[in-house]
Amino acid sequence: MSLIHEIDYGTPLSKAEKMVTLTIDGERITVPEGTSIMRAAMDAGNAIPKLCATDSVEAYGSCRLCLIEIEGRNGTPASCTTPVQEGIVVKTQTPRLKQLRKGVMELYISDHPLDCLTCSANGDCELQEQAGVVGLREVRYGYEGDNHIVSKKDESNPYFTYDPSKCIVCSRCVRACEEVQGTFALTISGRGFESRVSPGMNEAFITSECVSCGACVQACPTATLMEKSVIDIGTPEHSKVTTCAYCGVGCTFKAEMRGDELVRMVPYKDGKANHGHSCVKGRFAYGYAQHRDRILKPMIRAKITDPWREVSWEEAIEYTASEFKRIQAKHGRSSIGGITSSRCTNEETYLVQKLVRAGFGNNNVDTCARVCHSPTGYGLKTTFGTSAGTQDFDSVDYSDVIFVIGANPTDGHPVFGSRMKKRLRQGARLIVADPRRIDLVKSPHIRADHHLPLKPGTNVALVTALAHVIVTEDLVDHAFVRERAYLDTFNDWAAFVAEERHSPEATELVTGVPANLVREAARLYATGGNAAIYYGLGVTEHSQGSTTVMAIANLAMATGNIGREGVGVNPLRGQNNVQGSCDMGSFPHEYPGYRHVSQDDTRELFEKLWGVPLDPEPGLRIPNMLDAAVDGTFLGLYVQGEDIAQSDPDAKHVIGGLKAMECVVVQDLFLNETANYAHIFLPGCSFLEKDGTFTNAERRIQRIRKVMAPKNGYADWEVTLMIAKAMGYEMDYNHPSEIMDEIAGATPSFSGVSFAKLETLGSIQWPCNEEAPEGTPTMHIGEFVRGKGNFVITEYVGTDEKVGPRFPLLLTTGRILSQYNVGAQTRRTENSRWHEEDRLEIHPIDAEDRGVRDGDWVMLRSRAGETSLRALITDRVAPGVVYTTFHHPNTQANVITTDFSDWATNCPEYKVTAVQISPSNGPSAWQEEYEEHSQLSRRITAEAAE
Ligand code: SF4
Ligand code: SF4
Ligand code: SF4
Ligand code: FES
Repeated sequence: MSLIHEIDYGTPLSKAEKMVTLTIDGERITVPEGTSIMRAAMDAGNAIPKLCATDSVEAYGSCRLCLIEIEGRNGTPASCTTPVQEGIVVKTQTPRLKQLRKGVMELYISDHPLDCLTCSANGDCELQEQAGVVGLREVRYGYEGDNHIVSKKDESNPYFTYDPSKCIVCSRCVRACEEVQGTFALTISGRGFESRVSPGMNEAFITSECVSCGACVQACPTATLMEKSVIDIGTPEHSKVTTCAYCGVGCTFKAEMRGDELVRMVPYKDGKANHGHSCVKGRFAYGYAQHRDRILKPMIRAKITDPWREVSWEEAIEYTASEFKRIQAKHGRSSIGGITSSRCTNEETYLVQKLVRAGFGNNNVDTCARVCHSPTGYGLKTTFGTSAGTQDFDSVDYSDVIFVIGANPTDGHPVFGSRMKKRLRQGARLIVADPRRIDLVKSPHIRADHHLPLKPGTNVALVTALAHVIVTEDLVDHAFVRERAYLDTFNDWAAFVAEERHSPEATELVTGVPANLVREAARLYATGGNAAIYYGLGVTEHSQGSTTVMAIANLAMATGNIGREGVGVNPLRGQNNVQGSCDMGSFPHEYPGYRHVSQDDTRELFEKLWGVPLDPEPGLRIPNMLDAAVDGTFLGLYVQGEDIAQSDPDAKHVIGGLKAMECVVVQDLFLNETANYAHIFLPGCSFLEKDGTFTNAERRIQRIRKVMAPKNGYADWEVTLMIAKAMGYEMDYNHPSEIMDEIAGATPSFSGVSFAKLETLGSIQWPCNEEAPEGTPTMHIGEFVRGKGNFVITEYVGTDEKVGPRFPLLLTTGRILSQYNVGAQTRRTENSRWHEEDRLEIHPIDAEDRGVRDGDWVMLRSRAGETSLRALITDRVAPGVVYTTFHHPNTQANVITTDFSDWATNCPEYKVTAVQISPSNGPSAWQEEYEEHSQLSRRITAEAAE
């Protein structure tokens, strides 16, 4: 697929059902009511000249280039702001219109630098193009009068420039920032000739509210807002459609290239998850793929204290296989295992679990979803019958009430966050349950109806209290429950939540949320129309993560908010392919498609397919692998695209386990923290260098496409094949499409999926099978996947992690927009300009009690460990609660998180740690040691490279 310019219809698509017929330039055309004449003409293949209109934002009607004539009417209305009407007859090209357009264009051109030949937008500029379209051949006013040609450029943003001399004040950027992104960072300041686009109060972009989403750059018809990469490299000449490799929103992009050089990533208008929008990470922070830190040659070493030695791929693979075979011969079949990556493709993840189950002969495979959304899998499967969210993102357009709990969409899932904000600006009501005042609580033109600032660790008590109100005030949708749920489970649950001990008044002391707020929020959720729940790691990463997921599912079932657009239970998945890695059988107890390894029929199916006997016993989870390593029974690990030393809880425990192993194989782009304890390093390849699919938070399977050759020589799936072959278990695939064919053949919910179908449809939401050949946007319509909905009793059991005199504050963690997880990618881009270090947010009262001032170094201590970072004093957090991000390895928030975990899935309790804070003089001893160690590692690697 190679396209640079997508069609711009000038104004957004009308979703009206009623159709209207009109005549444009002699041709009859029928379009939905509400369509602009400009768009109707475009539909008929007749492009009306335009400058201020673009189909990503509402029409504004300022440039007057798109004038038309309508028979029987005076004047020349703008076609972008004039909607179609039944029976009208429109003319788009008359002598009068031509003359008027030329006049308009003349005015624009007379105040334009006209350095087209050296302009970065040469050949990609709408002003240039439209000047040609209207046939402008001379400018009567000359170029000498007042103009803006010497205006100063703003180059403060690391990714794009603002050159006011080229601005035609069309306001497309301002509208994009408001309507698409919802940040309202731009205004048109001044009047008439003095009008100019201005970030904030005439600030520089870098210091303004701008979040660098790039929507304004994309909307700009000239070179006024322009990617620096285009200025450096030149305009792109071909492109491929691919999918962002950062978060679970799964934005689709055009990777625009010049030769084999990536010029820019442009969000794809037909992308069904993002509809042409993006955030700063996917749009701009792709430079890590070319970063000099990337390791491109395999390396091995006998001991982790030895320097790395670069070797050939053959030697590295042979050494891997011989070590794994040696360990298994000495310590048994179960002494090795693998970890799949939620950053890698479905096909790669499938292969790693297949290698472990069929090649290693055990089920010791696990994934990072263990540490994020495993409770979603458990909770939604138990209640609804399937381990995934119920809606597509478009569903939010039909929501009347949005309930966000334990998620921060504007930072964690920014493109969906913008979508949600748009719906809220249209009038949907909002409930936010979060210990912290996240942006959604109050941002431009948005204010939550209810913010429930609960204490970390009390989700179950809060959601059960909401259920108490719904049941005791009889706000239940009885018809839905009767028809769709197991009545006995509903009755038991209703009796349970109705107990007085679950009332908002009784739970107020536990949750810290005033009872009246809980009551009002429950009434709004139950009676406000279509109500949708969105949740994130603030729900799952708790010792009761699975219980909260089930409590949420109960709430949706009791109020009938499931099985249609606008409602549902929607986990906001973190990593780009965390849904896919779970679907592909990355857990030790499940084959692809969430079928238990002990199920005879499924096991037989895979035994036949893979040609070997398979182990009916579930394998080890990551924490158990590490325990077994310390015990001396688990000694070899293949880690593909994960950094467990940095991202898993209780870092000391993880490192202890890794150090105890005899052969740790890390496959990654960079020498990550886990590689510090590895014996073999296999270079990984970036999403730009391989083919495959990712599955986003909506269950949407989307293609990633190779736009350049793998810099390390092999795609990750090919490396897994080589290891398998060297281990004596040969797998035979020539392309990831063949792996997908195998997945489809063995997994009922994927049976209709193929690369060929993805090529035609663009993306597919599973289940995709005979009943749903084009996929399933909304699940559980008519009946639940499990048949009837299953209500589950959700007893609140407080975490064992308690505050007390030694550790009186509760630490909770999260992430910010510009960085991503442990920062391995984003720290290697200019995104670090916005977040150079992790800071500890602390309420002014708690800070004052401890003599801490804004910016001071503080020591953060828990029962597990200590770390130092600088304080940020803010009332975004409540007294008694502190908060930090975990993007920088030298902070390692996980040094202080405990090893408490979800009772059902072992998902670690990252969101609740009892801590104490005291002033400190700088980094802790271990942080300094860590820094030394990192420098040493870097030096050893550099020496090896020389
Ligand atoms: S980059 Fe995004 S946030 Fe910044 S001004 Fe442009 S549209 Fe607004
Ligand atoms: S910066 Fe671009 S989009 Fe914004 S007003 Fe100027 S020309 Fe239009
Ligand atoms: S929202 Fe997520 S998927 Fe979309 S561009 Fe940003 S990081 Fe990528
Ligand atoms: S495109 Fe219609 S007025 Fe500018």
